[in-house]
Amino acid sequence: MSKLWGGRFRGAANEQFARFNASFRFDRRLFEADVRGSIAYGGALRAAGVLSTAEAEEIRDALETILRSGSNDPKYLDQVAGAEDVHSFVERKLVDLIGDVGYKLHTGRSRNDQVSTDLRIFLRGEIDRLGRLIDGLQRSLLDLAEENPQAVLPGYTHMQKAQPVLFAHYLLAYFEMFNRDRDRLIENRRRVNVMPLGSGALAGTNFAIDRELLAQSLEFEAVSKNSLDAVSDRDFVIELAANAALTMVHLSRMAEDFVLYSTTEFGYLELGDAVATGSSLMPQKKNPDSLELIRGKSGRVFGHHAGLLATMKGLPLAYNKDMQEDKEAVFDTLDTLSGCLHVMTTVLKSVKVHTDRMLDAAQHDYMTATEVADYLVHKGLQFRKAHELVGKIVLYAMENGQGLSDLTMEQYQRFSPLFEDDLYDVITLAASLAGKAVTGGTSPERVTEAITEARIRINANS
Ligand code: ARG
Repeated sequence: MSKLWGGRFRGAANEQFARFNASFRFDRRLFEADVRGSIAYGGALRAAGVLSTAEAEEIRDALETILRSGSNDPKYLDQVAGAEDVHSFVERKLVDLIGDVGYKLHTGRSRNDQVSTDLRIFLRGEIDRLGRLIDGLQRSLLDLAEENPQAVLPGYTHMQKAQPVLFAHYLLAYFEMFNRDRDRLIENRRRVNVMPLGSGALAGTNFAIDRELLAQSLEFEAVSKNSLDAVSDRDFVIELAANAALTMVHLSRMAEDFVLYSTTEFGYLELGDAVATGSSLMPQKKNPDSLELIRGKSGRVFGHHAGLLATMKGLPLAYNKDMQEDKEAVFDTLDTLSGCLHVMTTVLKSVKVHTDRMLDAAQHDYMTATEVADYLVHKGLQFRKAHELVGKIVLYAMENGQGLSDLTMEQYQRFSPLFEDDLYDVITLAASLAGKAVTGGTSPERVTEAITEARIRINANS
């Protein structure tokens, strides 16, 4: 009885099909979750009167031995040749240890409710792990912000210099993105942490399984409400893939910023040697491969999300084998995202910030032109007119090769009599920054508060 389903068959499976059908190569990752689920299920079978106390204890002890063996020695999982999936592997090991009584464990259970249970146990652990990685990345962003409280960065829109911002403010922008990512994972976890076990193949089970008690013993927060939905739902996987994709968007955008900022043309940042590579041909090169790979790997994570949606969209209720395809997609999603989070954290820990280059870039190219327009507004001019006028001043200054603070008062007054000497106080970088004192703005005061608030928020999470 090596298969879980041999009785109805006369012929053997085609060898190539058997390999095609088998999932043990990848679903062995669910080993621990599968055994834990089985231990709890054995308890539920005893409570339902299906197993005697002695049988239940024998099964539990054997499963604990299997769990220990598998956890201590990865090769243990290679010992059964040709196991179809992790569920048949564990059953085979169980029967090897205790004989026929092991065959009782699957009573009233299907791999359909089992695999979803396993995946949910596994994924909630992975979500917690991802949460810790995002937390670490956020802390590195805060560290870098605190190390560079004064650094001024030219802010961009359309990749054109726009207005000066504090570098710390820029870093906090990513902090917020990753904070939303973590919130989404917490939400996602609620929907992952629902127990399908007891749904049987699709209709429920004839045995008196106390599902609420079983859920408690497996630390599930709820039990699924409909057996058909329970075995055919992979929303929680797709949701996780979508959340991972969005986190990859954030990582990829940050990677792109850092690639640009570490070019000699920008020179705002220099990557640490730990996360850069050289060229096989050009001795002078220091390439940002770490960031390029993060940017590049976002594509495969998006692909997994799209793939999962496509896999599910035409499936009739209830379980269909198509759904086995969810494993490799979600496992690779998790591996890729974790790798990127690790590497990005290392990038932040090792990056050198050239505040002089940032400052120099922020001082040029009319970055405080909006301040000139706002100055005129304070003097009573309508904003649209002030905007038009300052546009003309910028054009004039550009043609003269002058900056905004190079223009004399006489030159300014040719454009408007509203200009007075106090103009020069408001068009400095410091004044521009200080002026952005609204909630969420880039004034030093607001940013200092924001860093403190972000620290409190992150410490409250842990
Ligand atoms: N390995 C399958 C999966 O990942 C679970 C087994 C259910 N198979 C079945 N033939 N009912 O979805």
